[in-house]
Amino acid sequence: MRAVETIAWDDTSGEIILIDQTRLPEIFRLVRCRTVDRLVKAIKRLEVRGAPALGIAGAYGVLLATRRIHERDHAVFIERVRKEAEKIRGARPTAVNLSLGADVVIDAIGQAGSVSEAREKAFDAAKALADADARSCHELGRHGARLLPDRCTVLTHCNAGALACREWGTALGVIRSAVESGKSVSVLACETRPLLQGARLTAWELQRDEIPVTVIPDSEAAFLMQQGRVDLVIVGADRITPDAVFNKVGTYMHAVCAHHHGVPFYVAAPASTFDPGHAAEEITIEERDRSEVACWGGITTVPEGVEVINFAFDQTPHDLLTAFITDIGVFPPPPDWSAIQAAQGKILPGRRG
Ligand code: MRU
Repeated sequence: MRAVETIAWDDTSGEIILIDQTRLPEIFRLVRCRTVDRLVKAIKRLEVRGAPALGIAGAYGVLLATRRIHERDHAVFIERVRKEAEKIRGARPTAVNLSLGADVVIDAIGQAGSVSEAREKAFDAAKALADADARSCHELGRHGARLLPDRCTVLTHCNAGALACREWGTALGVIRSAVESGKSVSVLACETRPLLQGARLTAWELQRDEIPVTVIPDSEAAFLMQQGRVDLVIVGADRITPDAVFNKVGTYMHAVCAHHHGVPFYVAAPASTFDPGHAAEEITIEERDRSEVACWGGITTVPEGVEVINFAFDQTPHDLLTAFITDIGVFPPPPDWSAIQAAQGKILPGRRG
């Protein structure tokens, strides 16, 4: 497999380096974020995206703030970093990992006694979170790979791959681990309207790794399930509350269809994406700009004056799922919340309930 590092910290220059996901597959371009404002822009524009990668962006973003703020008074320094963290958290509301990543580093610097110690603690905490993300994707992949038949076709939606994490991926991590263990897996990548993360990113990643991939329009998934051409569905998640899975809009539609056709439906996500502290109704689902739906390739596709509804995510009730594939094991719903909270406490000591 050809490793992709989606987001990294350059400690020499004190910058975040990320793959610009808006330009793939046409152009592979790295972006250097030298300021928190540039990072916030990158998050809003989806240059960096996907829940675990957003968690790392949140953590590195606070680290970046500690390097850009030149203030000697410790209390004032912490206050200014907190304000920057607030901007990062507000960049996108749905994925729990973004604010969690920022919180972990904020908590770490809160334990420092000086500005220089705060900078060191920020580095250690952000790096630990990024390393934990990579480890958890490989663990999750190992657990999930066992569920796949030796030869199968997996349908996935959006991009829950290396590009959505630091490396390896969640849904695509399961597929990579299965292929690595000798299984023959082919993938149906739903194109994922309107921003085409499936067609552009999932297909790009899998082609690079020589894993057979076919792109389909989102609306074709039900027909292919009816035809018996889908063995199972694996998707990622942006947040998992006790009553719903939040993931890219279209996930719920696939879950309903899979349930109707008796196709197993798995959600692959690390323990860090579970949110035991909120109910689905408390979560803000991001609504994005009209232009994402109303324009395509510079052409107007919806008449001026006609309204568009553009939710980025939807919510799928747990009873439509076969199981959660996590870094600490596979759980048919409901997940084992106490095991998940114990794992969160170990990997992310700064987690707030
Ligand atoms: O809007 P995006 O591209 O950030 O949406 C991403 C998704 O919905 C992914 O499926 C989810 O974050 C899981 S990534 C491992």
